[in-house]
Amino acid sequence: MEIEGKKAFFTRNLLLWNKKKNKRVMPWKGEKDPYKIWLSEIILQQTRVEQGWEYYNRFLKAYPTVKKLANAPEEKVFKLWEGLGYYSRCKNLIATARFIAKEKNGKFPDIHEEILALKGVGPYTAAAIASFAFDLPHAVVDGNVFRVLSRYFGISNDINSSAGKKTFTSLANELLQQKQPGIYNQAIMDFGAVVCKPQKPLCAICPLKKECVALSKNIVEELPVKAKQSERKKRWFYYLIVEHEGKVYVHKRGKSDIWENLYEFILLETGKANTIEKIRLAPLFKKLTEHKAEIKAISKLYLQHLSHQTIQGRFIHISIKKTPVLEGFEAVSFSKLAQLPFPRFITRYLTESGYKALER
Ligand code: ADE
Repeated sequence: MEIEGKKAFFTRNLLLWNKKKNKRVMPWKGEKDPYKIWLSEIILQQTRVEQGWEYYNRFLKAYPTVKKLANAPEEKVFKLWEGLGYYSRCKNLIATARFIAKEKNGKFPDIHEEILALKGVGPYTAAAIASFAFDLPHAVVDGNVFRVLSRYFGISNDINSSAGKKTFTSLANELLQQKQPGIYNQAIMDFGAVVCKPQKPLCAICPLKKECVALSKNIVEELPVKAKQSERKKRWFYYLIVEHEGKVYVHKRGKSDIWENLYEFILLETGKANTIEKIRLAPLFKKLTEHKAEIKAISKLYLQHLSHQTIQGRFIHISIKKTPVLEGFEAVSFSKLAQLPFPRFITRYLTESGYKALER
């Protein structure tokens, strides 16, 4: 089939599949309120649908409108976000809600350029909001779309390169059904998630199989092509949980590194793996334990992969008798600890240790 016919076949059969066969249910599907769509898309930017589902419901329950979110204390929003990772999303969520409440009188922008200009909103999210809420003709291009298009059209351009992204974006916009862009966009994402899956795609029942280039060449699982990302930087975090009179010392992390605005304990970061004996020789450790001190527990090794780095480390729980001098830190009770937002690296430890290490 020549290319124009192949494109028409794609859109027609995708929409037919969506109408007759697509059984996928999600709480934000068919939603027209741009606030709710925006919230769902920010959550889904780096989170799987199954995990994001509950967060979406919890956020809407706590903050049913953009104004409610704008008026919320930052700490509470971060706490609600806890566990989702990539906290810049949460920071931008708050900033954008406040911007809309203040500068737009709570009315979500309905022009594509204005939506795209919002903090935390890139081309993908802007297209999703514009098409779902306002039926504006902008094609979404996410991992699902790269996969479906690269396979059906047999395109092996690198999806991580800017040239590759351009190719797929312009093709996606040509295929977009202009009359119902929102329905088309949701259909292609659902199709990618349900039929044209990353592993074990359901080619046998695929409504596009007759024209699928990858299937005819038997290269379905080789597409899309992604250039390998460079190796993640490795960092070692040794957290000292310093307990004094039933309280532990925490502070809020600052800018220009990971986990901005989240809380943490006293951190000894090293460039390589260290033994506890070595950690005990660190001047800060020595200073904290120079009077009567007891190491109450040393955790197992924890590991977390972020997009560009890997964090490994342990938690060392120390009980001390004398009030420590720790600038920038505050002493909090164990009950207050549970209300503060921590990175997942730390909440995992707190949960897994059942705070046991912290109990007297
Ligand atoms: N991932 C991002 N947005 C999505 C949506 N609207 N439906 C399904 N998966 C998605």
